[in-house]
Amino acid sequence: MSDIAHTDPTTKTYRVLAVDDDPGILDALRRVLRIPGIELSLAHGPMEAMGMMQELQAAVVISDHMMPVMTGVELLSLIRQNWPATACIMMTACEDMRVAQDVINRQLVHFFVTKPWDSRALRELVQKALRLHEELRAQPGTGGKDMQKDIRENAGKAAFSLARAVDARDNYTRRHSENVSAYAQVVGRAMRLGPHQIEELRIGGLLHDVGKIGISDGILLKPGRLTDEEFKVIRQHPTIGESIVEPIAFPWNISAIVGQHHENYDGTGYPRGLAQDQIVLSAHIIHVVDAYEAMSANRVYRTARAPEWILSEFARCRGTQFLPAAVDVFLEEYRRGAIQAAEVTDG
Ligand SMILES: [Fe+2]
Repeated sequence: MSDIAHTDPTTKTYRVLAVDDDPGILDALRRVLRIPGIELSLAHGPMEAMGMMQELQAAVVISDHMMPVMTGVELLSLIRQNWPATACIMMTACEDMRVAQDVINRQLVHFFVTKPWDSRALRELVQKALRLHEELRAQPGTGGKDMQKDIRENAGKAAFSLARAVDARDNYTRRHSENVSAYAQVVGRAMRLGPHQIEELRIGGLLHDVGKIGISDGILLKPGRLTDEEFKVIRQHPTIGESIVEPIAFPWNISAIVGQHHENYDGTGYPRGLAQDQIVLSAHIIHVVDAYEAMSANRVYRTARAPEWILSEFARCRGTQFLPAAVDVFLEEYRRGAIQAAEVTDG
């Protein structure tokens, strides 16, 4: 029965986390994975799973794909970013086969299993995932605490010198970037992201508009309406920014944030027209708080929007411009005043 024991014949117990919004599926998984060597925990949704991962740091996560708030692909990509040694298994219905293949091809998750599953095959797959976990754990830089301190410190310094270059350019951008950075961290914490990803949001928020260095004053600081031509130039700033940060060996995915912070959830954004999980979670979050900062702050050309207007705007753009989960968490934090409290003000 215990083929899992082959993974480690000693007394070692592995933590496995299963995520599904259907309690029936969780129950079935509990029965199938009731085997020596595995301690199974169950989460009823992505947010609960993220919270549990902080404690568990599970060796393997098995997640459903179609869940409210966040898809399994989004959740598992997030888990891989935060816990690189965790092996990820996605469960899909047979009709989602194309999704599954795409996910595997793009290396978003390690394994997938179709529902309904064969119990023996599922146990074998979990065993395989545990072996992968051991391999991942043996790789340098995946243990969490051995995230090379020097690299982090140097990259942090590089980020600040770049941020200063943006500051020097335009006082508005400085406040804007500081606020985007602060708001993004509030959302990240509410999503229960790990410290590595919170730091990514902090630095990414400061640098998201770094590409505006490459846009002329005449266009960037123009108080009136932009012409189509000028707007085209402005829209180059994510690509320019990417080329600025790419050569820097950040231990965070800063170039993706810089390059993707104007991409829309439904694929209508720029510069590449990426959609959904082609966009990294940090860029989804920055996209939301960037829009909020632009709406809420007083600008030379207009005064701040009323809260009701802001709320209705996010309701309108949830699921088109913005990742639904990012909007939901942002609005929850906004309603309880955490976003407003994080605002960086003059003086
Ligand atoms: Fe921007």
